[in-house]
Amino acid sequence: MRRAVCPGSFDPITNGHLDIIVRASRLFDEVVVAVGINKTKATLFTIDERMDFIRQAVRSHPDSPTNVIVDTSHGLLVDFCRVRGVQSIVKGLRAVSDFDYELQMAQMNNSLAGVETLFMSTNPQYAFLSSSLVKEVARYGGDVSGLVPDIVLKGLRDRSAS
Ligand code: PNS
Repeated sequence: MRRAVCPGSFDPITNGHLDIIVRASRLFDEVVVAVGINKTKATLFTIDERMDFIRQAVRSHPDSPTNVIVDTSHGLLVDFCRVRGVQSIVKGLRAVSDFDYELQMAQMNNSLAGVETLFMSTNPQYAFLSSSLVKEVARYGGDVSGLVPDIVLKGLRDRSAS
């Protein structure tokens, strides 16, 4: 089975992430979305919330792919790949500024375990989008509809109302 992983913090998933996940699902038999657990990084949403947002966003996408699963990842991504039988990492590239660090990680992961990284160009519609910016705009009451799945929009509104 050709299996790929889309790794990230997904705090929260954006429409840019969702676009990459769905496009990857058309190329692989199975796509595992690996939500990284990093105890040193503070997140807005809990791991369960982030996973739930991803599952619901994938389900609500017009393609509604059935070959996408969502899991957590602790530690090294290459260890996750070995345990899950994943051969490829799929990453979205928004701009040249993403490239340096992504290339470094891709080379490290290949050197550690022979895992290949495939870069997918981000849909230009979402080239400026990041989870951090979405959180910042939402925190100050800006409109992020169209940038995140509806379920995330609701999550952001609930969070700022509380
Ligand atoms: O959404 P993010 O925070 O940019 O995702 C970064 C992530 C989780 C994909 C990256 O930090 C990662 O792969 N972490 C797992 C730990 C690991 O394998 N580190 C070595 C990378 S070469």
